[in-house]
Amino acid sequence: MKAGRLTALLHECEKGQKVGVRGPYGKGYPIDDFVGKEVYIVGGGVGLAPIRSLFLTLVERIKDFKSVVCRFGAKTPDDFIYKNTLFDSWQKIDGVDIKLTVDDANGKWSGNTGVVTTILARDDVNIPNAVVVVCGPPIMMKFSTLKLLEFGFGPKQIYLSMEKNMSCGVGKCGHCMLGKYYVCKDGPVFTYEQVKSYPNIWD
Ligand code: FES
Repeated sequence: MKAGRLTALLHECEKGQKVGVRGPYGKGYPIDDFVGKEVYIVGGGVGLAPIRSLFLTLVERIKDFKSVVCRFGAKTPDDFIYKNTLFDSWQKIDGVDIKLTVDDANGKWSGNTGVVTTILARDDVNIPNAVVVVCGPPIMMKFSTLKLLEFGFGPKQIYLSMEKNMSCGVGKCGHCMLGKYYVCKDGPVFTYEQVKSYPNIWD
């Protein structure tokens, strides 16, 4: 998605052009802490990009987890990334349950229409034995988190990906500060418990 200076430059790249990539930095999902639990993943828009890595890792170790339950949303069916696998092979994996929704069906969608919170249900997972991962635009993360709290998830069970303000990625520019944390070094994955007291978490 063309969303800023870097991504605009990426859109100007031509086929065959060489691109340097550094990272990953920071701390990711503590997957070993998820062992034996139901992993509930709520994703929106390009938030599916980091979720894809998590999802593939969970699937590789699927027997370690009770289940992997995914609820993903996008603006339109065309806006889903990884469509080829998301609409097909991922949905056939044993132990994986995926539901999708779009804000605007655009005439070629027979699934659910509405924001991602409309496909979240209290009985999607057994809450006391589940962790939930939320990744997407800040507004989607905010309303998903509020709904999950309403369902009875505790702040320590909710994992948020807070990379929205990252810039240098290496703890130098201060752009990513969230309370006492450098998101790029201490995160980008935090539990809601860790960040809930900061006023600007959804900005
Ligand atoms: S992104 Fe620069 S300090 Fe974190």
